[in-house]
Amino acid sequence: MDILAQAKQLEAQGKDIIHMEVGEPDFATPQPIIDAGIAALKAGKTHYTPALGLPELRQAISSWYQQRYNVDVSPSRIVVTPGASGALLLVMGALLEQGKKVLLADPGYPCNRNFARFVEGQAHSIAVDASTNYQLTAEHINEYWDEDSAMALVASPSNPTGTVLSNQQLLELSAAIQTKNGHLVVDEIYHGLTYDEIETSTVLAVNQQAFVINSFSKFFGMTGWRLGWLVVPDEYVSVMDRLAQNLFLAAPTLSQYAALSAFDDETLAILEQRRQILEQRRNSLLPALKSIGLDVKATPQGAFYIYADCSRFLNEELPDSMALSQYWLHNAGVAVTPGNDFGSHLAQQHIRFAYTTDEKRLLEAVERLSHIQSKT
Ligand SMILES: Cc1ncc(COP(=O)(O)O)c(C=O)c1O
Repeated sequence: MDILAQAKQLEAQGKDIIHMEVGEPDFATPQPIIDAGIAALKAGKTHYTPALGLPELRQAISSWYQQRYNVDVSPSRIVVTPGASGALLLVMGALLEQGKKVLLADPGYPCNRNFARFVEGQAHSIAVDASTNYQLTAEHINEYWDEDSAMALVASPSNPTGTVLSNQQLLELSAAIQTKNGHLVVDEIYHGLTYDEIETSTVLAVNQQAFVINSFSKFFGMTGWRLGWLVVPDEYVSVMDRLAQNLFLAAPTLSQYAALSAFDDETLAILEQRRQILEQRRNSLLPALKSIGLDVKATPQGAFYIYADCSRFLNEELPDSMALSQYWLHNAGVAVTPGNDFGSHLAQQHIRFAYTTDEKRLLEAVERLSHIQSKT
């Protein structure tokens, strides 16, 4: 956020900044979704929906699980939320209580630990590295689970590393957590954005007791509509209903009507094209970053991030990734996110690059970095 604010300030002074810090794609929401939103507004769809969500949308999401993953998920288990953020709030609210722990990967999505704190729980961050594809494994669960642990939260594809958990790994995690009588929560917000023709299956294909977080923000390009969903086991529906009623009453009505068009063939064709563009960007950016000395230890196969070790760029004057990010911003006009946003494990020697801008600009950014590097 600091980097973004400084980048905006530099832009206001007329500097050309290449934004690689932003965690949302540069594409606008697909037109069919926008049209459905406009139609809903014109039809006066401006009242609250039920707290669990519009029944048609819950049905549409259920059909999506069938169509995309061949998995049965009853609409009654689907809770529509204000973004994945709303889903995280509900799930932590329901599964954590004072002093209880959620096991998380470090590096990971920064807000997770704050949600845990907000509900008076504790984040137990576990250092992960390329040896496990920056993901929690069954071994981590066995090693770190204690009597205060209540749940583990993983993200696949992950932010900031873009790495993916296989079905086998999800199965092993599920089994390990089941033995502890705990809960597995999988954040699938970057589903749909995977590359190299890998198959990402929802955790629900292997474990119907898992909690799933998802969103219309990333794959469906609807960040500003604030809409996501949560899938819960049957016995948790009523607690989620009560929490949603108390915390936010319901997700935005207009967005829910608009999202009914998110699964149309026409929309899905647009989204597939965008996925291919993102894959192409990753394919160009990854070798370009490596060619200037950034070390990417696990190939990102999803989301739109590359998490790189920048040790070779550090020295006495630029001792850590925060200082380096500032230096790049002010001297090369390239905005990136320093690792300390995502945790503390080796954070000072890592930087996240988001490929949320077009390929030409991404390569220009690398060119600029290489240029200032050769001058130092
Ligand atoms: C892993 C992960 N989970 C959840 C979110 C929250 O997304 P939203 O509330 O926009 O759906 C983000 C946003 O960047 C994310 O990266």
